[in-house]
Amino acid sequence: MINTAIILAAGQGTRMKSKIPKVLHKVAGISMLEHVLDTLRKADVNRKIIILGHGAELIEKALDDEIEIVYQREQLGTGHAVMQANDLLNVSDKTILVLCGDTPLLKSETINKLEEKHHSSNAVITVLTAVIDDPQGYGRIIRDDKGIKAIVEEKDASDVEKIVKEINTGTYCFDGAFLKEFLEKLTNNNVQKEYYLTDLVKLAAQEGLRVESFILEDIKESLGINNRVQLAQAEKILRFRTMEKLMLSGVTIIDPQATYIEAGVKIGSDTVVYPGTYLEGNTIIGEDCIIGPATRVVASIIGNNSYVQNSVILESQIGNNCQIGPFAYLRPGTFLEDNVKVGDFVEIKKSKIGKGSKVPHLSYIGDAFVGENVNIGCGTITCNFDGENKHVTKIDDKAFIGSNTNLVAPVSIGKNAVIGAGSTITQDVPENALGIARQRQKNIPGWQKGKKD
Ligand code: UD1
Ligand code: MG
Repeated sequence: MINTAIILAAGQGTRMKSKIPKVLHKVAGISMLEHVLDTLRKADVNRKIIILGHGAELIEKALDDEIEIVYQREQLGTGHAVMQANDLLNVSDKTILVLCGDTPLLKSETINKLEEKHHSSNAVITVLTAVIDDPQGYGRIIRDDKGIKAIVEEKDASDVEKIVKEINTGTYCFDGAFLKEFLEKLTNNNVQKEYYLTDLVKLAAQEGLRVESFILEDIKESLGINNRVQLAQAEKILRFRTMEKLMLSGVTIIDPQATYIEAGVKIGSDTVVYPGTYLEGNTIIGEDCIIGPATRVVASIIGNNSYVQNSVILESQIGNNCQIGPFAYLRPGTFLEDNVKVGDFVEIKKSKIGKGSKVPHLSYIGDAFVGENVNIGCGTITCNFDGENKHVTKIDDKAFIGSNTNLVAPVSIGKNAVIGAGSTITQDVPENALGIARQRQKNIPGWQKGKKD
């Protein structure tokens, strides 16, 4: 068990060139910090402390009570950051995990393995390291025949040290008593004039205390985000991780390179996702669906066996066996029951459409309650806005709305009623009635002939 985890998140993230604190930048739809917290939730961690400084007010809003906050008013380095929490740490803690808020790809399994190694080896520090081809920017692990001697930062490294490919991932387990005592001994005698947490390794080695390492198997987990290029790299890795999991659970993704699925999305088996599809937020899609091509679904629920093509669906709920698109736009608050068809160039907002109803072409339905087995003809519009307020349209079961109808809300159409095509309906229509509101057609015989004469 990890007694205490300390997340370092006080740095400015200068290299991001951003107004937003680094750890709030999103990777696959979720902030870096949220990824780290998620990993800690899944790992065996007792207590969590976060070090905040730059952008603390914004970051605090994104935290819940489960985490203790410590402020680092001046950001004088990673060692200085941990010093701020020193009073909260216990000498009896066998394992204090320190990790960075900017390593969102780290997995909980890895944290647990690191902790196991730390526990079994009786080391005062166990560093999570990785061997990578391009170690530029990372602290290098310097070893001699006795083991790890030091971690040297890129900026302080000699040419020989820079060749070393084993890097510090920024994740470590410390013995509580060692950490409390040795934090006080850190100095800022280096190129960046910072108190480096990594110098604890050198101090331990000098005292003949045991420093161990756990080498990452999947080096992708070690990616620390310092700039937007690395942000995009992390995005891609995480996106593929999500898609791989989905594919292995029975979802077909025709072309993962051309598909964007965020970490929080769930999809049932035998659903097929076509290229150009974006699935975002905590979207849930059932089994046997066809989604895409060219579709965006955000924070929505879609039932089983539904088909969505070339459409945008935002914060909506869609039942089983529905057909959406091509070119439908379902805005927040759309609720479709089972067997509903929404066809081309249809926009729906904050409306409920009952079982088996159809809105096949060219319509706007807003603030409406539509019953079951209703047919809404091509070009029908709910005129829901009077310039100041929004009003509700009600259409009862089995009503038939003729093409090109304007329903001026507030208005109700009764059960089984029929609206003549081209009507502008301003009054309620009772059940079983025909509502028609348009000029009667007049034919003028021989009109063309007379004009020519
Ligand atoms: C750090 C490590 C480096 C490692 C790399 C892994 C040190 C000295 N270096 O370098 O060996 O290879 O991470 O990604 O530790 N932070 C604070 N307060 C501060 C400074 C930083 O809270 O005063 C936080 C940052 O918000 C960030 C983390 O510590 O979450 C790491 O800081 P960063 O500046 O990114 O360190 P690196 O240069 O990446
Ligand atoms: Mg970093």
